Amino acid sequence: MTSAADLLTELTLQEKAAMCLGSTVWHTAPVPRLGIPAIMLSDGPHGLRRQPDGNQAGISGSLPATCFPTASALGSSWDPDLVRRIGAAIGAEACAQGVAVVLGPGVNIKRSPLCGRNFEYFSEDPLLAGVLGEAHVVGVQSQGVGACVKHFAANNQETDRLRVSADVDERTLREIYLPHFERIVIRARPWMVMCAYNRINGVPASEHRWLLTEVLRDEWGFDGVVVSDWGAVRDRVAALTAGLDLEMPPNRGVSDTAIVAAVHDGTLDEKVLDQTAQRILQLVDRCADPAPTGFDVGTHHTLARAAAADCAVLLKNDRQLLPLQPVAGDTIAVIGEFARAPRFQGAGSSQVNPTRIDVPLDELRTAAPAGVTVEYADGGEQAVALARRADTVVLFLGLPAGDESEGADRWHMHLPEAQIALLEQVAAVNRRVVVVLANGSAVEVSSWDRHAGAILETWLSGQAAGGAVADLLFGAVNPSGRLAETLPVHLADNPSFLNFPGEQGHVRYGEGVFVGYRGYDATGRDVAYPFGHGLSYTSFTYHDLTVTVTADSSVLVTCAVVNTGDRPGKEVVQLYIGAPPSPVARPVRELKAFTKIDLLPGGSETVTFHLDPRDLSYWSTRHQRWLLHGGTFHVSVGSSSRDLRLSVTVDVPAEAFPVPLTAESTLREWLADPEGAAALRAAVGADADGNPTGILSDPESLTVLGDFPLTTLTAFPRLGIDRHVVTGLDIQPRGVAGPHALHIAEDEGAPT
Ligand code: BGC
Repeated sequence: MTSAADLLTELTLQEKAAMCLGSTVWHTAPVPRLGIPAIMLSDGPHGLRRQPDGNQAGISGSLPATCFPTASALGSSWDPDLVRRIGAAIGAEACAQGVAVVLGPGVNIKRSPLCGRNFEYFSEDPLLAGVLGEAHVVGVQSQGVGACVKHFAANNQETDRLRVSADVDERTLREIYLPHFERIVIRARPWMVMCAYNRINGVPASEHRWLLTEVLRDEWGFDGVVVSDWGAVRDRVAALTAGLDLEMPPNRGVSDTAIVAAVHDGTLDEKVLDQTAQRILQLVDRCADPAPTGFDVGTHHTLARAAAADCAVLLKNDRQLLPLQPVAGDTIAVIGEFARAPRFQGAGSSQVNPTRIDVPLDELRTAAPAGVTVEYADGGEQAVALARRADTVVLFLGLPAGDESEGADRWHMHLPEAQIALLEQVAAVNRRVVVVLANGSAVEVSSWDRHAGAILETWLSGQAAGGAVADLLFGAVNPSGRLAETLPVHLADNPSFLNFPGEQGHVRYGEGVFVGYRGYDATGRDVAYPFGHGLSYTSFTYHDLTVTVTADSSVLVTCAVVNTGDRPGKEVVQLYIGAPPSPVARPVRELKAFTKIDLLPGGSETVTFHLDPRDLSYWSTRHQRWLLHGGTFHVSVGSSSRDLRLSVTVDVPAEAFPVPLTAESTLREWLADPEGAAALRAAVGADADGNPTGILSDPESLTVLGDFPLTTLTAFPRLGIDRHVVTGLDIQPRGVAGPHALHIAEDEGAPT
């Protein structure tokens, strides 16, 4: 059978140009005369938003689909298997609705708690975002439909989102804003990647050749289609040349005309167009297989409920207020509008039209033991009166819907004042107050935390969140979520605070790699609740940490974890690495591996983690590669980034990476290398007694001039390093290990 990919040579120039654009807001361009069909794309990350035919442009009114927990919640599950199953369920729904590619997952890093789309993203940490993003893609694509990873890259705010330039250095890009994309592309092989709206260092993401071609395709081997975010293309020909395949929505009559004209006038090589057309034809072929299988709405709702329960984070649980264990005759006061009209997703392109909605109040009534009364008040005087006579209060708080939408950042982290006032009034008459939070991005808790006996953070957890809350509060499910982002005491503590959302068209990522907990730990700040934190109704102990370093600098870590409580429970075992002082500033600790384990009371498990040299390395901008700086590393395992239960140190040898010495290398760099020093001494010469001459005879000058490159020193008289000395040194070109090799220890020039 002829595949679409075989038809490239049959296409006219006009047809190829047309294929670089959609035919509608949600379809690729068909070529009917060759039998090449259009395929359909639809949002989004936590459920399908498949617009009915005839209502292509709007956001609301999509066909009903299961609204699974948003990424803000799934991030807190720390459970790739769960995320994979949800991906598979979304893939099945896509298949049933004729959708070929699902526009998700969204994996951008939560640089600031204020980003309006944080609810669509997993974490402030690239490893966690990468592991979960990979699982999502694998799940979706297991159903024969494509996933589209977005938004590539450095798309971390909504303010001025179509124009702003994210000004970020390469090391920070490589260590924080790209590794999760890299992992997903290499391991899960998504069919599509969506470029971001914003600029990166002044260049629109849609025209960023380094990102879209050199890094994404040449380095990572991406073989799918790059699609624009909707409206991200400015200059179609520049975008095509940079590696952007598909423009959405299509600017028909303009972009295709420009492509044809550019081929005619020679500014666009037709081979570039052929490559793009070929990739789109391959995508059409990839989508040819799935036969709609249908799906069971009830089964998916049950999955959504179990998932929501595994995502909730028990932030606090004084005197074991939870799980609730009411007896006949008790009254539980349920207070707050969100108990009747739950918030479970954010606004914008990811908004799903749910198949059904669990109402928390109804679910609590259903789950309450016989003889227990569940009474409701929405707020105000009646709420206080109800709280006064109730045995326990369950107070639903959270962010108003208007605070969490694509297109707008927040400018503070506070809950509405009226909610805090209600909490204070309720807490004044009842000491047993459980706060249930619903919000898709971090909120400030420190100012009101003391009024709550327990706080359950449910995030925006999809259509079954209400049922999950009942499961968690009454103990049918033991909480096992862990924070995927730090909750700071104050917004101003956040490392990006002074550089968010930027000004005059630029946002400077001035905190560098010190994003989230990397920043709070570096400055030693108190936080409200640390990255990785989350309580359980049971308890876990850690034992027998072993760390082995192999000859190739891989690290093998094992550790035993025991459930010491009286309930089954899940623990997220987190492995953090602290690097030795290095030529570049390194975080105090970084998450390098984790696993979620399920233990019966008294049960234990030995977990094993493998790290490779890259996990210990930093990105050397100077050498354009990962470098392992040797020394003593701290290896810690624990229950959160600030609850490290066991730690050991291990010595890891430096990577043998010879760096060529050149005329631009400094005097200190030459002298630090034995062969380089000998060559330089020989070139400078010695006096009659054999002692060095010039600067080499004067240690004090070395202190002052040691960081001068040799070329600069040639301008100074009487130092002995003149032009002839430098040319005579047999200097090797940069990037080639020459006879004078310097070890990396002194390399980057900014020791910490
Ligand atoms: C969003 C994308 C979305 C696309 C299509 C854009 O505004 O940024 O995430 O997939 O619209 O709805």
